[in-house]
This record gives sequence, structure tokens and C-alpha cells, in this order.
Amino acid sequence: MTKDEIFNFFHDLGIVPVIKIDDADKAIPLAKALIEGGMPCAEITFRTAAAEEAIRKMSEAFPEMLIGAGTVINPELAQKAVKAGAKFIVSAGLNPDTVKWCVANDIPVVPGVCTPSEIETGLSLGLNVLKFFPAEASGGVGMLKNFQGPFSQVRFMTTGGINPSNLSDYAKAPNVLAVGGSWMVKDALINEGNWAEITRLCKEATTLMQGFEIVHVGFNNKNEEEATKVAEEFEKFGFSTKKGSSSTFVNKEIELMHKMFYGTHGHIAIRANDLERAVFYLEKKGFSVVKGTEKFDAKGKMKVCYIEPEVAGFAIHLVK
Ligand code: 3PG
Repeated sequence: MTKDEIFNFFHDLGIVPVIKIDDADKAIPLAKALIEGGMPCAEITFRTAAAEEAIRKMSEAFPEMLIGAGTVINPELAQKAVKAGAKFIVSAGLNPDTVKWCVANDIPVVPGVCTPSEIETGLSLGLNVLKFFPAEASGGVGMLKNFQGPFSQVRFMTTGGINPSNLSDYAKAPNVLAVGGSWMVKDALINEGNWAEITRLCKEATTLMQGFEIVHVGFNNKNEEEATKVAEEFEKFGFSTKKGSSSTFVNKEIELMHKMFYGTHGHIAIRANDLERAVFYLEKKGFSVVKGTEKFDAKGKMKVCYIEPEVAGFAIHLVK
């Protein structure tokens, strides 16, 4: 994988599990649990003596997984990690020597920063993906918003204090490439060999990351006249109706189409935090984008699309 492919993979997965492993023999069952949980990716931190061996074992057994090393504090450790099979290097802070070694050897490196000056150091070393660490303790999503103005070219992997309760806030931040964290791979779960719980937490996290929410249900009508008649029925309940050019809305939740549109009966609009990431997630669940229905914003990010197959006679309309 090229550097860009690796960063795209981080984005599409949305979450990178940050792992501290004490026993390299647990690496294989842990990797299986992650894959089953929809997270074929791991940052194995050099916080234990087993890290190097765990990277080797996972990389050999699961070449389709994206395995990297974390807590890499110097170039020597980076070299060791890459030799063991690490495909990317992460560190808690920014050590220019480590970054220079990685850049010279074409290894994606994501050093930790939490101040504007550190971000500038990262930029001067040629990086535009940085780790925001420790995220929560350094101001969290509010701080990321402040970085957006002066450093709009930088995307962040954010770690430190992220968990299911604040995950979606980070997922919505436009300058977040992916989040990282240890909450779904706590050392205790690994030490106990509680693989089922790790898989469950990974699945829960990947779903939460999407921020799926039903926005409205659209019903097809033969023409505007039919839609107007239906709208009048809803007005009897005191609901407000608003006629647009292609449909009439009843409150915000029901859309009455002025023609037969997508879906046998109509469509269900579902909001997601990031449509490219949502499509990546839904494709693994058997959906695919209806070609030609995608629309993009000025930055080239998808803002709407339809996916198929339809559900209970309703097309699914993904919106941002
Ligand atoms: C890291 O190095 O990225 C952090 O230890 C992960 O933070 P967390 O344990 O708070 O998830």
C-alpha cells in the first residue's frame, strides 16, 4: 500500500485500535477478534517487550491487515518496527529524527502534536497528517476547530480519551482523518483473552462512528395533485406542510414526492457523519451506491447518494 492508500484506509475505517500487548502469543487471536469486529487495523505500541514480536506475528498471519507501531520514540525503534512488519509509525510526540528516518525510507509516519508550534514543525518536515494527542486533555473537538483555520491542510488522527460517548463528535469534525483509542482493546480484555468482547466493542465503535440517524421518509406519488391530497390528510392532525418544486414536506419527517421516484414506495433518508466512510462500511454489509446518484460539495466530499438494494420497498438515501 502506498502512503496515500494507507491514509485513505485510516479514513475509511475511521478507527485505529491502539494496543498494548503483554504476551505475543495473544497477537493472533487478537487480530482475529479485530477483523471479526470490522477493524482490520492495529497500532501496536512499544510500551511492552512483546510489541515487536506481536507486530511480526500479526503481519505474517494476516497480510490483509494494516499493522503499524505506536509509541515509537526514536529512529532505532522505527527501524525495528518496520523490520518486524509495521506498515506505519505513530508516536506520542514529534521527534524530528524519527520523522526524517521515516520520510527517507518512505514509511508513513504520524507524530503526536497538541500545539500550533508542533503542527508547524510537522508541516516543515513535509507532513500533513498528524496525531492530535492527548486529544481530550488538550481541548478535544474545540481545539480541532481552532486548528482548522490556520492549518486547513492538516488532517488529524486523534487519540487520548476517546470513547463511545464522544466518538461521534470527533467523527463529525472535518479535519479528523480517523480516531484512535484503546477503549475497545483494553489490556485487561487482551490479558483475559476476552476476544468476544473485543469484537463486540469494535463493532459498536465502527457503527457509532457513522452517526446514522433517520432524517425523513419520502413517499412516492403519481403527481403533485396526489401529493397535495395526501398532505391535506396530514394537515388534519395540525402538522405543517411546505410545498417545494419536487416534493411537499409534512413537518420535517415526511416528504411527499411529486412523482414516482427512487424506491417502490419511496425512500428513507439516513444521515451519516461522512458519506465516503459510510459507503465503505455499508458495502461490507451488502449495499452499494446507485451509480449516478452521488453529489459532491465544493471540497469534493460526497454529500448525498442512494444505495441499493432497497429496504421494505424503500430506497435508502444517504445524506450528510
Ligand atoms: C495513544 O497513545 O494514542 C493513547 O494511549 C490512546 O489513548 P486512550 O488510551 O485514551 O484511548
